[in-house]
Amino acid sequence: MTIKIFDVGTKKEINKKIEEVKFEERENYLKGEHYMLKEILEQQETVKKATEQDEQKLLETAMEILRAKNVIFTACGTARYAAIIGRYLFSKIAKKFSEVIMAHEFQYFVDSVDKDTLVIAISQSGETADVLEGVKKAKENGAKIVSVTNVENSSLDRISDKIFFLNCGPEIAVASTKAFTGQLVVLYLLAFATIYKIQEGKIKLKEIGDKIKSIIDKDILKELSEKLKDKKDFYFIARGIDFAIASEGALKLKELSYAHAEGMPAGELKHGTLSLIEEGTTVIAICPKDYTYEETLNNALEAKSRGGFIIGVSDEGNEIFDVWIKIPKVDEIFYPLLTIIPLQLLAYYLAVAKGNNPDKPRNLAKSVTVK
Ligand code: M6R
Repeated sequence: MTIKIFDVGTKKEINKKIEEVKFEERENYLKGEHYMLKEILEQQETVKKATEQDEQKLLETAMEILRAKNVIFTACGTARYAAIIGRYLFSKIAKKFSEVIMAHEFQYFVDSVDKDTLVIAISQSGETADVLEGVKKAKENGAKIVSVTNVENSSLDRISDKIFFLNCGPEIAVASTKAFTGQLVVLYLLAFATIYKIQEGKIKLKEIGDKIKSIIDKDILKELSEKLKDKKDFYFIARGIDFAIASEGALKLKELSYAHAEGMPAGELKHGTLSLIEEGTTVIAICPKDYTYEETLNNALEAKSRGGFIIGVSDEGNEIFDVWIKIPKVDEIFYPLLTIIPLQLLAYYLAVAKGNNPDKPRNLAKSVTVK
């Protein structure tokens, strides 16, 4: 087959090198189930695979993170929620403040980007137009670009100074699941590298991979989805490192079940959203038994006393939960890798219960290559 590339403006042929990218045979990949479910269930393995990173590269990047005047994450959708957790990890472990900017807004901030800025771009596909646009502008201003992506030879791969791959295999379902946890693993490792604890980090992350299996209780989530399938609104609350999980849980649910869902820091509830809580409104409180537990629970109670139906995702039960989704106890910083799993399953089963195709939600594309 001959491929020719033309400039749409001048209509002249352009001389470009063409490379063939090989993916796994999709027919072998799917055996009678949705890709999304398969990808959710794969995470016990993909989390471990994502730890297979070059240690020298991790260390070099960690030093660049510590030396940079500004560290800016840029990403969209699910990848942006991974970035928000990265920001927390850099602060907690590396004691380094960083900022997260939605990729489509990044261009409006490039005036303050210079050669002392390190940009960390996160994109499963490596083809999201908004991400590429922001990265190009930052590069023009002299910033260094480190990227986290799943696709070799993607446009992001080609324009970055350093790249970390997720090693989790192709993600086919439109809703991002295993790429999200893979992105988190890379960010954990970068944070651990800043304190020279890559090995310790890898061991802990592999242990978490083993725990993922124990929380996959498909029956509870299937049953819950049947109960919730006619609900119109869902509010997800959490604090600290899990705040981004509340947002990611809401994104998964809305994109697949077409219901209204919002994720927010639990402390924000009383600043407006509480007025929307009435008899039977579903509130999902992600409240692992860490230093955020009591406060998140208090916020859930504010919703409960207005009639809210409370689903608690926690390692500790509480009488205010109408439904308790149990997760194992782990160190505070690792909870996101566990709390997200039941939320992905809930979104999946709700879509199925409503007769939607979870692999191909309406109006959405796997990779958004237009601005
Ligand atoms: O390929 P990317 O990671 O750059 O994609 C970013 C978003 O478009 C993507 O995460 C989107 O939000 C997903 N459909 C969420 O499940």
